Amino acid sequence: MLPDADFVFIAREVKARSGLVIDAEQAYLIETRLSPIARREGLGSVAELASAARLRRDERLIWQITDALLTSETTFFRDRSPFHTLRDRVLPDLMRARAGEKIRIWCAGASTGQEPFSIAMMIDEMRAEGRGGDVEIVGTDISERVLEKARAGLYSQFEVQRGLPIALLLRHFEKAGELWRIADRIRAMIRFQRFNLLDDPKPLGSFDIVLCRNVLHYFDPATKQVTLEKIAAQMRDDGVLLLGAGETTGNVTDAFNPSPLGAGFFTRNIAARAAA
Ligand SMILES: C[S@@+](CC[C@H](N)C(=O)[O-])C[C@H]1O[C@@H](n2cnc3c(N)ncnc32)[C@H](O)[C@@H]1O
Repeated sequence: MLPDADFVFIAREVKARSGLVIDAEQAYLIETRLSPIARREGLGSVAELASAARLRRDERLIWQITDALLTSETTFFRDRSPFHTLRDRVLPDLMRARAGEKIRIWCAGASTGQEPFSIAMMIDEMRAEGRGGDVEIVGTDISERVLEKARAGLYSQFEVQRGLPIALLLRHFEKAGELWRIADRIRAMIRFQRFNLLDDPKPLGSFDIVLCRNVLHYFDPATKQVTLEKIAAQMRDDGVLLLGAGETTGNVTDAFNPSPLGAGFFTRNIAARAAA
């Protein structure tokens, strides 16, 4: 059992660095996720690791602890139907509206890459049907560990079996020993970059579509609000935001309105911006 002072220290530092809120009921999470770090550091227990990080104020160790506590769970085409809406409605509408101009898509909290790669495969399929336009996809995450895997584009049999239709697996991947490697053509469509959603996203430029799925529900309402408002400021006026299943901007900020495109889709509330 972690002494209170160590738990409070870890919870505070992790929240300050990533936005992730850990409450006392999640003490088990700390124990299971941090044990491997304690072993690697030659420390006898998670309690020893926590007090070492606290007493030494060891930034490297605190970032390792933060990274280990983040949830990176993801799958190809997670929740399926939002991808159909993107392919059949959002992208064709934007391509018409932009008339040949580049469409920019931001996957914020892209984890190990399955989400941006799902979009890239979808656009590649659209191009094969003569419906594709000029699209740039930026995949960002706070964790270098997950980004390294995303950049490698290598997935286990288990990972490709989760959500990826077999036809797409055969068309866009090749076998690499026990693993599957995504085609260079698809990989080249995405720029993976480290970005912390607590930071200022202006340098990323402006976007037509932003996916921020299954990231914000780990934040407290105030952090969620600030983050959503920073995302809104990076979106074109007619841009579209996609959150995870069950996530909403309502009662957090008026920067967005629910979109008739369906659950999880939001558009910018331009009237609220003008009033502000
Ligand atoms: C549960 S995964 C979701 C992945 C993908 N969006 C999906 O829905 O399948 C959440 C991701 O958000 C990232 N994340 C958490 N806090 C973040 C922050 N402050 N800035 C950027 N990424 C963050 C985590 O590292 C993790 O990879």
